[in-house]
Amino acid sequence: MLKTGFTKLIGCSVPIQQAGMAALANPELAAAVSEAGALGMVSVGGFPPEKVTRELELVRKRTLRPFGANFLIPGLTDEDIPEVSESVRAASKLARLVEFFYHEPQAELVKIVHSERALACWQVGSKVEAGAATDAGCDMIIAQGIEAGGHIRGRIGLMALLDQVLSKTDIPVIAAGGISSGRAMAASLAAGAAAVRVGTRFAAAEEAGAHPVYQRALVKSEAEDTIFTEAFGRGWPNAPHRVTRSSVEAAQAFQGEEVGQRYVKSSDEWAPVLRFQPIAVTKEVRGNVEAMPHWAGEGVGSVKSILPAAKIVDQLSDEAEKLLRRWSSQSFG
Ligand SMILES: Cc1cc2nc3c(=O)[nH]c(=O)nc-3n(C[C@H](O)[C@H](O)[C@H](O)COP(=O)(O)O)c2cc1C
Repeated sequence: MLKTGFTKLIGCSVPIQQAGMAALANPELAAAVSEAGALGMVSVGGFPPEKVTRELELVRKRTLRPFGANFLIPGLTDEDIPEVSESVRAASKLARLVEFFYHEPQAELVKIVHSERALACWQVGSKVEAGAATDAGCDMIIAQGIEAGGHIRGRIGLMALLDQVLSKTDIPVIAAGGISSGRAMAASLAAGAAAVRVGTRFAAAEEAGAHPVYQRALVKSEAEDTIFTEAFGRGWPNAPHRVTRSSVEAAQAFQGEEVGQRYVKSSDEWAPVLRFQPIAVTKEVRGNVEAMPHWAGEGVGSVKSILPAAKIVDQLSDEAEKLLRRWSSQSFG
């Protein structure tokens, strides 16, 4: 098995981290990934502390291995900090790794994570943000290239970003963006990443909460079918993301404002999904699902079928290991 500083730090056997992916990264997926020896992540951004605890306990019931919690925190204000801090504290009591995305690194949140003996991580898109995350006391960072699916901080390709970020910091760097194959995983590890973070490939896992229409679109798509856009910006403007071109075109062609509905468990109601609303396309949406955002990174061409998460972990790590062994046994003299 591949061993890196990251796996030793986290206690995993495979240097793969499943991305937090809003409601798609549910406890079932996270537990399956962790059971397979990688690091499963649950998305808990926006949840009150009691709900964070409930979600993470669902993972703990399924696995005794380490797992992580992800906080997507766009637009965090000073007034939000006290409530978010309590949710972060709740997550840090149960998760080995607590990570944050879409806000400048905050030392205050990192301190809370450490006070509960968890590890803190920030997903960043530039060397400036990497420096800020290091200064905020993070134990590791994720460098996210522009190839990534979902919302994107990176503005340059992953390899160029890794080069910049690895020169800027001494803490472990996890590579993210377009990594859906063992080949891309091997390239990132060979370039100096301590681990890889994989989103799109796990959105197509059997255990993920993704809607079947969205999963089928992932299987059909190639890298060229994705676009970097701000199209799905309703309620969250100026936030570039990568989705399939066909989902943008379907939303543009849709006549009307309400493309469908999503089920809201807390109120047991169906709420409207508006055109260009940046929602997680889970199994609990209905309507014109084709016109909802099909988040996808440039590695989507390697998504050939819907597989159990453990199989995805095995395929990625076996292929990467084979390539890295072949590479290290070659003579360059
Ligand atoms: C469907 C989807 C939802 C995402 N939601 C989140 C999220 O809630 N929090 C987060 O930190 N990153 C999120 N991301 C971005 C990932 O953290 C990661 O950067 C990205 O998936 C890596 O690129 P890849 O999708 O090509 O593997 C999401 C990505 C996808 C594909």
